[in-house]
Amino acid sequence: MKAHKICETVYAVHADIYSEARFEGIWPIPSGVTLNSYVVRGAKTALIDLIKDWSGSVQQFEEQLATVGLSFEAVDYLVLNHLEPDHTAFLTEIRRRNPGVQIISTPKGIAMVRNFFKITDNLREVKNGDSLDLGNGKILEFVETPNIHWPETMMTWDRSEKILFSCDGFGSYGALGDRVFDDEFTKEEHEAFYAESLRYYSNIVASFSSFVKKAIDKLSAFEPAVIAPSHGIVWRKYPREICERYARFAGYNTGEACEKEVCVIWGSMYGYTKLGVDAVVEGIEAEGVRCVQHQVPDTDASFVLSDAYRAAGLVIAMPTYEYKMFPPMAHVLDLFERKHFTGKKVLRIGSWGWVGGAKKEYEERIAGFKWTNLESVEWQGIPSEGDLALLRERGKMLAKMVKEA
Ligand code: FEO
Repeated sequence: MKAHKICETVYAVHADIYSEARFEGIWPIPSGVTLNSYVVRGAKTALIDLIKDWSGSVQQFEEQLATVGLSFEAVDYLVLNHLEPDHTAFLTEIRRRNPGVQIISTPKGIAMVRNFFKITDNLREVKNGDSLDLGNGKILEFVETPNIHWPETMMTWDRSEKILFSCDGFGSYGALGDRVFDDEFTKEEHEAFYAESLRYYSNIVASFSSFVKKAIDKLSAFEPAVIAPSHGIVWRKYPREICERYARFAGYNTGEACEKEVCVIWGSMYGYTKLGVDAVVEGIEAEGVRCVQHQVPDTDASFVLSDAYRAAGLVIAMPTYEYKMFPPMAHVLDLFERKHFTGKKVLRIGSWGWVGGAKKEYEERIAGFKWTNLESVEWQGIPSEGDLALLRERGKMLAKMVKEA
């Protein structure tokens, strides 16, 4: 694989990770993920963001660097927009091979280089608006964008070419192969990347949506010609599209409109809660509202988060289990809280066998979620015809609320 030329002075190099391992040790990546870096050349050479030595990534990088006549040993500056190990775990090794490389990051980033990687010399702190002159007219400017996706984060701006190196911002799951630019992928491939960018956002970035909105406001004055993230597609034809997409994603849990659809998340021990789910879905669909269903624990929570995050309405369907909530649903609700899934219209249903308990624990659990909750429906064992009629009616009520949202 070769390095990809963005312009005469800037190249994208990337590693495609196809691995059984999960991203962050949590999130499945069946379509892989990329680790992107960027070579920027003036009289001196900077490498923007690095990699984790993961699933052949170092070999992929070295091969691509060689196609533009570069090696890790010949880099003058290493710009670290973000210190998470997917972009930095190779740092100790590159410093061993290239002791003269100067490492550049925000003050919080440099503190992490010192404390996390135990590297103490040839470090340079930069703040918002500071710049690095590479010579031959090539100037990089640094833009602090905290909490995308951790407090030390910044983005780097190539003034002459109007390229924004955004690290986690505007990123996605999904490996790229031999293509990296937005205009090289088909409509169908873009749809797949859209889904993977939403899943990446809901899994990784959603907790920080208020910071994403602030960063997008700050960056609006820049009008980038190219957006070059460190995961996923490089946007040279449609940079505005990925900005608008991220703005919409950030709005889903910060008071702006979600999609007018319902995500039904259900678990059932012996099929009786599922009978109730079918009735609720009948009611929702009778109102013409799109409904997406996920059974837990069969569907990994990563995918549940993705569809639940974008939906204005949720159905949480689970039986009582040992006097409490069905455990896989407790896990999903825990993630909803951690990822700040606020502002949803929600219906909770479920069956119980000997004695209830899920309802009490559920209501305690969601007390701080800022959801609009319809009255729960519970039944013992097999739902009666009356229960099913009520469930269909509640489904219709939820769908109407979603349409008005
Ligand atoms: Fe791609 Fe927050 O690291």
